[in-house]
Amino acid sequence: IHCLNTKYLAQNILFFQTIDSTNTYANKIAEKSEEGTVVLANEQTNGKGRTGKKWISEENVGVYFSIILKPEIPLSKASFLTQIAGASLCLALNKNNIPAKIKWPNDIIVGGKKISGILTEMNAEIDRINFIVVGIGINLYKTSFDELSNVATSIENEGFEIEREKLLKDFFEIFERLYSEFRKNSIVETRKTLRDYSAVLGKEIYLINNGEKEKVFAENIDENGNLIVRDQMGIIRTVFSGEISIRGL
Ligand code: BTN
Repeated sequence: IHCLNTKYLAQNILFFQTIDSTNTYANKIAEKSEEGTVVLANEQTNGKGRTGKKWISEENVGVYFSIILKPEIPLSKASFLTQIAGASLCLALNKNNIPAKIKWPNDIIVGGKKISGILTEMNAEIDRINFIVVGIGINLYKTSFDELSNVATSIENEGFEIEREKLLKDFFEIFERLYSEFRKNSIVETRKTLRDYSAVLGKEIYLINNGEKEKVFAENIDENGNLIVRDQMGIIRTVFSGEISIRGL
């Protein structure tokens, strides 16, 4: 990437025209790779989404990459990396005049529809993280999302334009800054970004859990990346990212 101004993040990029999944590959090589190594592809034949879903990864649609990280943190903090990635991508897009917002826990939306998803996978022993892979897919180009079209879109479909290298450069630089702060136990900028660009916080939303819908008020995101909500009884609860999905009212 031209003029990339980072110390270690994406200093080593493994590029593939086509691969099964950058996350799968990153998981395979992580043990012997340096922290910050990136696996980047133009096309994935088996792109993975959250909860076992498929992630459409055609060449003319988007960019797909995974970052290998080796933070020394407790397991409970691992999902905060999804928040750092989301905040970084949102800042990078807004820096390029694309009005992106963050939909907790792992979607970036433009015009109310999803343009990017994040899949964080970790490899850990009982008490110790070996490595974490943060995978990101961004829909850049005009395309039809067919049956997905009421939930998914692309940057171009929403009438915006960005050069792929410029987006990656800005993203990697911002991610390195927020991630390095996180490693020094400071998450002030990430949490401010999550609040400023949230599509969820301060709103009434539905939590959807195994088909059950529950109306709650989204209060905050805590230091582990969990969503804090107030339920209909006025009780403050913590929502873990796991299987839950949310919808606006
Ligand atoms: C989601 O919203 O469900 C998460 C989608 C994550 C997709 C990215 S594309 C790059 C990386 N490799 C994969 O197989 N998945 C992630």
